[in-house]
Amino acid sequence: MSQPMLAVLMESIHPAADAPLMDAGFRVEHVGKSPDSKALASLLAKATVVGVRSKTRLPKECFSSASTLAAVGCFCIGTDQVDLSSAASFGVPVFNSPFSNTRSVAEMTLAEIIALSRRLFDKSSQLHAGTWDKSSASAREVRGRTLGIVGYGHIGSQLSVLAENLGMRVVFFDIARKLSIGNAQSLPSLKALLDISDIVTLHVPDSDRTRNMIGETELAHMKPGAILINNSRGKVVDLTALAAALQSGRLSGAAADVFPAEPEKNGPGFRTPLAGIANVILTPHIGGSTEEAQEAIAVDVAEKLARFWKHGTTATAVNFPQVDLPQVREGMLRILHVHRNVPGVLGTMHTLLARAGINIHAEFLQSDRDTSFVILDVDHFGDRTLLAGLQSMAETIRMRVAG
Ligand code: NAI
Repeated sequence: MSQPMLAVLMESIHPAADAPLMDAGFRVEHVGKSPDSKALASLLAKATVVGVRSKTRLPKECFSSASTLAAVGCFCIGTDQVDLSSAASFGVPVFNSPFSNTRSVAEMTLAEIIALSRRLFDKSSQLHAGTWDKSSASAREVRGRTLGIVGYGHIGSQLSVLAENLGMRVVFFDIARKLSIGNAQSLPSLKALLDISDIVTLHVPDSDRTRNMIGETELAHMKPGAILINNSRGKVVDLTALAAALQSGRLSGAAADVFPAEPEKNGPGFRTPLAGIANVILTPHIGGSTEEAQEAIAVDVAEKLARFWKHGTTATAVNFPQVDLPQVREGMLRILHVHRNVPGVLGTMHTLLARAGINIHAEFLQSDRDTSFVILDVDHFGDRTLLAGLQSMAETIRMRVAG
């Protein structure tokens, strides 16, 4: 019996990843930490798929030397740790899980809305230090207050539902047209939102349009005593301007989970202009860091890897032509062929198949600038020379028969 293919999962990826990969025929090996470059090279040399989180870097050399590697799963949100264009040029799709921690961020934001409105962190710190201060000054309920959500995507819209359930009035601003959920009200501009919100929370991506989107001018538009929460991306808020607005008493509180420059490693020495200011919650980019999110990410990425292996589906891959395919039909073989995007390749493939007397039942093709991905569902055949012929075409980057 042939050996099952190997899936190597590094950096303590949640074991919920195992079942989808095993169902697709993989043997799963877990590596607790991020391996050093020597250990990584030997893992890549034997793996068919690898899973990494944020610490394991996969530069170009990893792909040029890993001839059996079919796909990479980033079991996290970001994919900066992988050289995506090199992976694509060697025919390796890379998958991630951008939305599995949506609920975790929404819940943390909701917790901060209440905690800041009641000044819970300040009260707690004072009591830890021995000071009993039972005053109700500046402590507010959130019921009936207006929450302004900037960016009504996955997180913003989920938060909208939770906040309405608490009795908050929800308004939002998004540059894209978005369907309001529940009774949330769409506003035409950021300024309109800042003018009327008691609490403003940011859920936008990092882009040219969002960098420093909250600075001195915008803070001056916020209601006196309002609260600002940024659990999105660090460069969206001008922290010096925010610190000034908090110190002057113009704003009554803030929370920041993300910062313009974040340390790569845990440990002391972090500095921010917000440090030490009253009623400010600082957290080290943990908005999406929950057990549930890790489990959901594990299942999501493992299923994407399994679908790619079994059917050739690359939908949602971050670096590859996107193909979403049905199951291979009974009695057929599915050839997955990645090649350089130049004229004439399909013609050559058709000719090779026709000469071998093999009928093509379905063909799918997607290309990006440099790479084409063609999938052919053909009659079952045992002729290895046909596969060798397809493999040896000058334009072929990578080729296999699915699953
Ligand atoms: P998403 O892509 O679903 O939603 C973003 C929304 O922002 C979209 O509806 C988009 O149209 C809107 N948008 C873009 N530019 C805008 C602008 N200039 N003004 C107003 N709206 C704008 O993203 P998702 O999943 O909701 O994530 C939101 C942010 O949260 C992202 O930056 C993401 O990186 C971050 N995030 C932070 C985490 C943490 O641990 N703190 C964890 C997960 C996500």
